[in-house]
Amino acid sequence: KTIYVLNGPNLNLLGKRQPEIYGRETLEDVEKLCQSVAGEAHQIRLLQSNWEGQIVDWIHEAREKACGIVINPAALTHTSVAVLDALNTFEGPVIEVHISQVHKREAFRHHSYVSMRADGVIAGLGLEGYAAGVRRVVQLTKD
Ligand code: DQA
Repeated sequence: KTIYVLNGPNLNLLGKRQPEIYGRETLEDVEKLCQSVAGEAHQIRLLQSNWEGQIVDWIHEAREKACGIVINPAALTHTSVAVLDALNTFEGPVIEVHISQVHKREAFRHHSYVSMRADGVIAGLGLEGYAAGVRRVVQLTKD
């Protein structure tokens, strides 16, 4: 079984981008962490794009290829009906992750389109949020 771990705009710069907010670890570290908690029955496919349409296409691909999705939509969280609509076509569990505690930040980060579909929402746990998201998908898809 495969779990898609999708990452939106600017997360390619994780580790370099505003480290006081997002920390110094990179997406490669996220991938290793996710793989280490996924266990033997699940594979991780970690993807990142700065392009909304690419995220939509990967969600469509996940319909056939993934048992669950962990997604940090980044700024698309707050803007994208297209990402929400795509996730609504996916039948497995969806966990929304934010590295930072978005509710402690600017008001425009408090609303998420994706939360209307997500089965779980994690914010402010740093990279541990991805691990928690993967563990939850594993738990929900183990049989
Ligand atoms: C983020 C929070 C978003 O508001 C922001 O646009 C991001 C990252 C997070 O992981 O904390 O790019 O999703």
